Amino acid sequence: MQGAPCRRPPPRGLPQRRRRPQPTMTGPRLALAAALLCSCTSPVADANSWWSLAMNPIQRPEMYIIGAQPVCSQLPGLSPGQRKLCQLYQEHMVFIGEGARSAIKECQYQFRQRRWNCSTVDNTSVFGRVMKIGSRETAFTYAVSAAGVVNAISRACREGELSSCGCSRTARPKDLPRDWLWGGCGDNVEYGYRFAKEFVDAKEREKNYVRGSEEQARMLMNLQNNEAGRRAVYKLADVACKCHGVSGSCSLKTCWLQLADFRKVGDLLKEKYDSAAAMRISRKGKLELVNNRFNMPTQEDLVYVDPSPDYCLRNETTGSLGTQGRLCNKTSEGMDGCELMCCGRGYDQFKSVQVERCHCKFHWCCYVKCKKCTEIVDQYVCK
Ligand SMILES: *[C@@H]1O[C@H](CO)[C@@H](O)[C@H](O)[C@H]1NC(C)=O
Ligand SMILES: *[C@@H]1O[C@H](CO)[C@@H](O)[C@H](O)[C@H]1NC(C)=O
Ligand SMILES: *[C@@H]1O[C@H](CO)[C@@H](O)[C@H](O)[C@H]1NC(C)=O
Ligand SMILES: *[C@@H]1O[C@H](CO)[C@@H](O)[C@H](O)[C@H]1NC(C)=O
Repeated sequence: MQGAPCRRPPPRGLPQRRRRPQPTMTGPRLALAAALLCSCTSPVADANSWWSLAMNPIQRPEMYIIGAQPVCSQLPGLSPGQRKLCQLYQEHMVFIGEGARSAIKECQYQFRQRRWNCSTVDNTSVFGRVMKIGSRETAFTYAVSAAGVVNAISRACREGELSSCGCSRTARPKDLPRDWLWGGCGDNVEYGYRFAKEFVDAKEREKNYVRGSEEQARMLMNLQNNEAGRRAVYKLADVACKCHGVSGSCSLKTCWLQLADFRKVGDLLKEKYDSAAAMRISRKGKLELVNNRFNMPTQEDLVYVDPSPDYCLRNETTGSLGTQGRLCNKTSEGMDGCELMCCGRGYDQFKSVQVERCHCKFHWCCYVKCKKCTEIVDQYVCK
């Protein structure tokens, strides 16, 4: 990141990155803070992101006072463009936070058995410095976060939570049987997609990078992965129907567009992670394949520009937390196996007591009664 153009300091009066708002800050100190930001030696300053909306509870819309702006200036992690969108669409912010939260949860589920397990490290940078590396893991994180926003906003529209959108206006699918009704209130995935594009991509689009530079490569990578995430939600949204008619005869159906379960979006993006394409920046400022025997990625695919660190050891520079103390599976040969998880450092065994429901009996009518059984199981943690 050496020689990176200095980032513009945040506008006056806004909370400094990675700092609590300090209303008493005077001019010179503010300038000093800006100068520190501009030294470009601390990559963490830029790890700050709208993801932090997931970590800091946002007031519900009814708490907003129309015309009052402080909400947006107090939210941490927004870029200048995102702050403007916040002012225009204040009531959306709660749902962006919700989307980010479900994205983090999904990321942690998908990566629970891997060395990098998508853990959050703090409230401002959320995932920490590892996101400075343009790795596959970073690619997944951007994609799933963008997907989370599409998901949350699309649903909020359907639920009538936002004044600027309502039920989906998707046209009736051509292959829907004629006597089925099209017209239930569907998730507004078109609006969710468009809004997420505006909001999530804003940060990438507001800077001008030198053509062919590392920074430009990373910007193009982020944009591509954001798009892949949004498209995953769009693609998986499907028609859902409900039966009507005499006592469940289902002679009549009403159908609408419905988002897929977010787990499915996570699964699809995890597949995309496994097949992500390694790219590099050309002198003309386009991403190109490192190995051109492969197919060019489509807009649904993930791309990355840096190799992944091995995430084995704790490393302050890369932001890797390391795998010391992680549980591993002694018999598995996968990434969750002790050999790979512990990077060959070995592991400690300990006994742990697990309580489970057992000897469950069905009682007429209608409940199930179980006993509690305790079992002592061997567990393994990485050295
Ligand atoms: C993040 O913020 C929330 C709410 O403000 C707080 O409860 C939590 O302890 C914070 N976590 C960290 C790691 O600072
Ligand atoms: C941390 O990672 C960097 C970059 O891979 C490497 O150069 C450095 O030696 C590592 N530091 C430690 C303490 O392992
Ligand atoms: C993820 O990894 C970190 C660092 O190794 C660890 O502290 C944390 O407990 C892990 N989280 C889960 C859910 O395993
Ligand atoms: C460990 O891995 C083996 C083989 O993949 C699997 O059958 C077993 O269920 C795993 N154990 C745990 C506790 O996850």
